[in-house]
Amino acid sequence: MTKNDFLKPKIAASILAADFGHMADQARQAQDAGAEWLHLDVMDGHFVPNISFGPDMVAALRKAVTIPLDVHLMISHPDRYARAFVEAGADNLTVHLEAPHNVDKTISLIRGMGCKCGLAINPATLADKALPYLREIDLMLVMTVNPGFGGQNFMVDCLEKVRVFREAINRDVIPCELEVDGGVNLDTIGPSARAGANVFVCGTSIFRQNIRESVTALRQKLA
Ligand code: DX5
Ligand code: ZN
Repeated sequence: MTKNDFLKPKIAASILAADFGHMADQARQAQDAGAEWLHLDVMDGHFVPNISFGPDMVAALRKAVTIPLDVHLMISHPDRYARAFVEAGADNLTVHLEAPHNVDKTISLIRGMGCKCGLAINPATLADKALPYLREIDLMLVMTVNPGFGGQNFMVDCLEKVRVFREAINRDVIPCELEVDGGVNLDTIGPSARAGANVFVCGTSIFRQNIRESVTALRQKLA
């Protein structure tokens, strides 16, 4: 990663919306279409009311693509599972501020393994709660839907938090990515970028139509 790589706009294709019968193929298509990252949503049926997949899927997709794997843990006690996901090939491992765990310790644990660490906040969580961690993390993830399911509507009010984080990151020159996740599509990617996000998680808006055309169209909105 070059010095200012964390400022570059990136599309993170969220595999949750892909055809689970053809994961590797769909991931490769997203990579070939120009998605910079692959986003993998891990759900435990406890922290969120849905179950997706675990470290074995991360390992399988690690073999399928070369782009970074952006792993989003929507699970309780993420510290207990962090090592398994790093060993499976996660490049970024994002944990929720609201999950039961010691956030400081989990961040140290993940970074201590040489993995980038992200911190995610739900729509109901105030930016103030996460601001103290900005210098300790590599990625701030602002949920723009309630976590658990793809295909939900973007909550525009969450962009106010994106503005707050962007201002803090720029003011203090913090090397932290700023990611929006949930309901990002052709209508909402532009406003997200203008609010200050530089990583855009897109599931439904990529995998539920022609993958190449949708990545190209989303990219054009960032121009
Ligand atoms: C939601 C997940 C998202 C989801 C986004 O809990 O964290 O990453 O895959 O899906 P779309 O883009 O369909 O809203
Ligand atoms: Zn996600």
